Amino acid sequence: MDAQPTYNDTVVRQFTIMTVVWGIVGMLVGVIIAAQMIWPALNFETAWLTFGRLRPLHTNAVIFAFGGSVLFAASYYIVQRTCQAPLFGGPLIAFTFWGWQLVIVLAAITLPLGLTSSKEYAELEWPIDILITLVWVSYAIVFFGTIVKRRQKHIYVANWFFGAYIITIAVLHIGNSAALPVSMTKSYSAYPGAIDAMVQWWYGHNAVGFFLTAAFLGIMYYVIPKQAGRPVFSYRLSVVHFWALVSIYMWAGPHHLLYTSLPNWTQSIGMVFSLILLAPSWGGMINGIMTLSGAWHKLRTDPVLRFLIVSLSFYGMSTFEGPMMSVKTVNALSHYTDWTIGHVHSGALGWVGLITIGTVYALLPRLFGKPQMYSNKLVEVHFWMATIGVVLYIASMWIAGIMQGLMWRAVNDDGTLTYSFVQSLEAMYPFYTVRLLGGVLYLSGMFVMAYNVWKTVAGVKPSPVPVPQAA
Ligand code: HEM
Ligand code: HEM
Repeated sequence: MDAQPTYNDTVVRQFTIMTVVWGIVGMLVGVIIAAQMIWPALNFETAWLTFGRLRPLHTNAVIFAFGGSVLFAASYYIVQRTCQAPLFGGPLIAFTFWGWQLVIVLAAITLPLGLTSSKEYAELEWPIDILITLVWVSYAIVFFGTIVKRRQKHIYVANWFFGAYIITIAVLHIGNSAALPVSMTKSYSAYPGAIDAMVQWWYGHNAVGFFLTAAFLGIMYYVIPKQAGRPVFSYRLSVVHFWALVSIYMWAGPHHLLYTSLPNWTQSIGMVFSLILLAPSWGGMINGIMTLSGAWHKLRTDPVLRFLIVSLSFYGMSTFEGPMMSVKTVNALSHYTDWTIGHVHSGALGWVGLITIGTVYALLPRLFGKPQMYSNKLVEVHFWMATIGVVLYIASMWIAGIMQGLMWRAVNDDGTLTYSFVQSLEAMYPFYTVRLLGGVLYLSGMFVMAYNVWKTVAGVKPSPVPVPQAA
C-alpha cells in the first residue's frame, strides 16, 4: 500500500524560524541607525558603519529577510492546507529556502561595503538580482504547481492574494532591475532620467502594495479565521477586495514623485488613484476585523488574536494616512520630513510587524505538534512591548515631521526664512530620542519572542502531518 502523502512542513518550519532571526537582525540595525541620528559618532568613523550604508541594510533586512521569510512560510503552509496537496516542485522547494538565505547574506555583505545600484528597496547589484530572479521563478513553480495539483476545486481567496504577489513581484523586479553591467559589482540603470525615477517608484510603490500589503492580506484571510475559529466575515467582500486592490495599486506610484520633473498629469493620476485606494484597503480591514463578530470575547484571552487584530487597525491607520499624504498640498508639507518615516513605520511596525509576529505565534505550535506556545504570558508581554513601541515610534515621528515641515516653510515679513536648517535639526532631538526608545522596546519584544520560540521548539521532533484523503 502507498504511504499516505504528508504536507511538506520542513521548509515552512525553516522559514518560520528565520523570520524571528532576521527580525532581530533587521530591527537591531534599525535601532543602531535610530541611535546614529542622535549620536552621529556611533558610526565610529568607519565607512561600513555609516548611516548611508546601514540604512539600506535595515530596509532590506526587515522587508525581504524578516517579511520575506514569513511570506514564504505562510504561503507554503496555507497553499498546502487550502489545496489539500503537498508542495509541488521537489528540489526547488529547498532551493527557495537556501537561495533566499544566500540572497540575504549577500545583501548583508555588499550593502555595508557600499556596493549598491542606489535604487531604493532594489539596491542589490546585478549578480544578486539574477539570483533573486532564479529563486522567485522557483517559488512561482512551487506555488502554482501546488495550485494545479490541488484536490480542492475551489481556490481559496488567500491564494489569489499570494498568486498576485508572486507574479507582480517578478514583473516589478525584472522591470526595475534592467541595467547595463560594467563590472561584477557595478551596473547602470537601463532607463534615463525622469523615466528611471518613474520606473523606480512604479516598483517601489508596488513593492509596498504587493509585498508588504497584498501578500500579508493573504495571510490575514487564513490566519484570522483559523485563530478566531470563525469563517471570514464576508467571502464576497474578500473577492471584491482582491480585484479592487490589485487593479488600483498599480497606478498610485507617482505619489512618491509629487512636485518633481515627472509630467504633472502623471502626478495627478497618482494622487487620484491613491485616494480611491482607501476604499478597498478599508474594505479589507473591516472584513478582517468583523470576522471576529460573535467572538470578540476571544480578544480577552488570546494574545495571538490580539496581535492579528491590532495589526489590522494599524493597516487601517496607514491606509487612511497614505491617501491623505498623496494629496499634493499635504505632500508639499510632509515630503522629505519624518512624517513619511512615521507613515512607513505605522505600516511596517504596526501592520507588517504585528501580523508577522501573530502569524509566527499562530503557526509555530501547529508546526511543532504543540497545543500552544511555551508561554502565553510572554506572548502577552510581547504584545504590550510591541504595541507601546509602535506608538512611541510613530507618534514622535508625526510630531517631528509636521514640525519640520512648518519650520522649513516659515518666512519672516521680509521674505527671509524664520529658521535655519540646523535649528530644525536641533528641534528634532527629543523626538529622535522617543523614537529610539520605541525601537528598543519593539526590538526587546523580539528577544522575548525568540526565547518563547526556543522553549517551544527545543528538542521537539515534529512528526509529518498527513494530507486528508477526502477531496
Ligand atoms: C526596532 C524597529 C525599527 C527601528 C528602530 C527602525 C528605525 C528606522 C530608521 C531610524 C530609519 C531611517 C529613517 C530616516 O532615514 O530618517 C528607518 C527606515 C525604514 N524602515 Fe525601519 N525601523 C524598525 C523596524 C522596521 C520594520 C519592521 C520595517 C518593515 C517591515 C521597517 C521599514 C523601514 C523602511 C521601509 C524604511 C525607509 C523609509 C523611507 O525611506 O521613507 N523598519 N527605520
Ligand atoms: C492606501 C494605501 C497607501 C497610500 C495611498 C500610501 C501613500 C504614501 C505616500 C503619499 C507616501 C509619501 C511619498 C513621499 O512623499 O515621498 C508614502 C510613503 C511610503 N509608504 Fe505609503 N501609502 C499607503 C499604504 C502604505 C502601507 C500599508 C505601507 C507599509 C506596509 C506603506 C509604506 C510606505 C513606505 C515604505 C513609504 C516610503 C517610501 C520611500 O520614500 O522610501 N504605505 N505612502
